Amino acid sequence: MSGLFITFEGGDGVGKSTQVRLLADHLASQGHTVVTTREPGGTQLGQEIRNIVLHHRGDIAPRAEALLYAADRAHHVSTLVRPALERGEVVLQDRYFDSSIAYQGAGRILDGDEIKNISLWATGDLIPDLTILLDLDPAAARVRLDADDKVFDRLENEKQEFHARVREGFLALAAAEPHRWLVLDARAPREEIAAAIQIRVGSLR
Ligand code: TYD
Repeated sequence: MSGLFITFEGGDGVGKSTQVRLLADHLASQGHTVVTTREPGGTQLGQEIRNIVLHHRGDIAPRAEALLYAADRAHHVSTLVRPALERGEVVLQDRYFDSSIAYQGAGRILDGDEIKNISLWATGDLIPDLTILLDLDPAAARVRLDADDKVFDRLENEKQEFHARVREGFLALAAAEPHRWLVLDARAPREEIAAAIQIRVGSLR
């Protein structure tokens, strides 16, 4: 596989989609073919799963939730991400299995290694070349989300302590695999963040 697979992670409201767009523009201007996508919901089937995991009324059992994200991921990787990488394209993806480990693991019911293994099975062991963590204190992220004035989904409605555990989860993942991760302070100006990302991506090729 000769393409480049870059994923973006972080809590809700940290500016991932903006950075995906800025990096996509930058790489496209250099002549790369860039695919931007996201989880959950990067495919049509994924949209249906996204609707369940984010908007289902009532509880979803933790293992069922983990498997729904994994099902979305399996279909997404098989039908969209892998084919693009095999064509030699750059795939920029908003969230991947590290989100499952940080979010589904933050409920304290499921074990991070088990969740990761489910995703590895689901994707045939597809690991990103680079994962960018936009790190932000959940209280600051909440202020941004409130300013957005949109309806909260199930996960955005979780309590502050849950989001603090998600953040710690991401930081622990990044610390365990520093060669795969780039951790950036999401409070920095967006152009500064974009420049730091471009430098690291440039060093990959
Ligand atoms: P989304 O609307 O895509 O928002 P954003 O990425 O901007 O926060 O929300 C996706 C939500 O799904 C987000 O709260 C994190 C959650 N999620 C998981 O819990 N597990 C996963 O494996 C993935 C991919 C997402």
